[in-house]
Amino acid sequence: MNYRHAFHAGNHADALKHVALLALCDALVAKPAPCFALDTHAGRGLYRLEVEDALRTGEAAGGVARLLRGVDPAIDRYLDAIDACRERYGADAYPGSPWLLAHALRAQDRIACCELQAEEAAALKANFAGDACVAVHARDGYAAMKALLPPKVDGQRFARGLVLIDPPYEAQLAEFDSAFAALREGLARWPQAVFALWYPVKQRRALQPMLRGATTLPAKSALLAELLVRADDSPLRMNGSGLLLLNPPFGIEERLRTALPALQAMLEESTGCGDSRLAWLKSPD
Ligand SMILES: C[S@@+](CC[C@H](N)C(=O)[O-])C[C@H]1O[C@@H](n2cnc3c(N)ncnc32)[C@H](O)[C@@H]1O
Repeated sequence: MNYRHAFHAGNHADALKHVALLALCDALVAKPAPCFALDTHAGRGLYRLEVEDALRTGEAAGGVARLLRGVDPAIDRYLDAIDACRERYGADAYPGSPWLLAHALRAQDRIACCELQAEEAAALKANFAGDACVAVHARDGYAAMKALLPPKVDGQRFARGLVLIDPPYEAQLAEFDSAFAALREGLARWPQAVFALWYPVKQRRALQPMLRGATTLPAKSALLAELLVRADDSPLRMNGSGLLLLNPPFGIEERLRTALPALQAMLEESTGCGDSRLAWLKSPD
């Protein structure tokens, strides 16, 4: 496996994913019951944007660095979380999904993070050493669906929660076979949870089989949120990305309805060349 998220931290795909992740967490903690979050492909949890890996690609310059405050509440929420991370770790820090989960969830909630690469997993463990709410597993995140769901921590079960699946797609479209098998396993074991699968968009039409497959998953509802920063006419580069949200909590549609066009306006490469989309593949009853 060659993928290292340090080269991509803070790019337009992270902006979409992390804005949505915070909105999902905020919706979950609106109720007092404790929540459990499983991050199957966690990365190292914390990144630096002013180091060689990040500067070589410059992806954050086309992502988080372009976002302005005061345009949309969900984007302000994301920028506030980044500020909180930077207050603690310095001006070039960027929070990965485990850090954002730990930031947005509460003391009574629990988080499990899986990371397969030994070096990344060791960094993740170090970043959360001493945080009793976060468990780090150096293991395959797909297999964790079976091992860790339904969640039970110190004898406590969780009715509410979230599973984030954020693979590197080194297997290209074949990654969906693994991701969907994991989603089926997860939905069978923890049917009421929210599941979020991130995916890259190169050419949208290549995603049609995946979208058809998504409607057959045994979730109560399925919402698609996509952000393209340029036309989806090249199979060679990531022109945007999307999130398949299964059983999304109440209020998410409203939150993303304004956030997606606002992200598009700030992140598209030139005016009008991008796109955004929020659509139910399966409507809630
Ligand atoms: C896109 S990055 C994760 C970024 C992170 N979710 C975030 O938003 O900050 C994908 C990560 O998955 C890890 N990975 C790849 N295959 C995996 C697997 N089968 N199980 C767990 N982790 C895996 C990679 O090493 C990489 O760190």
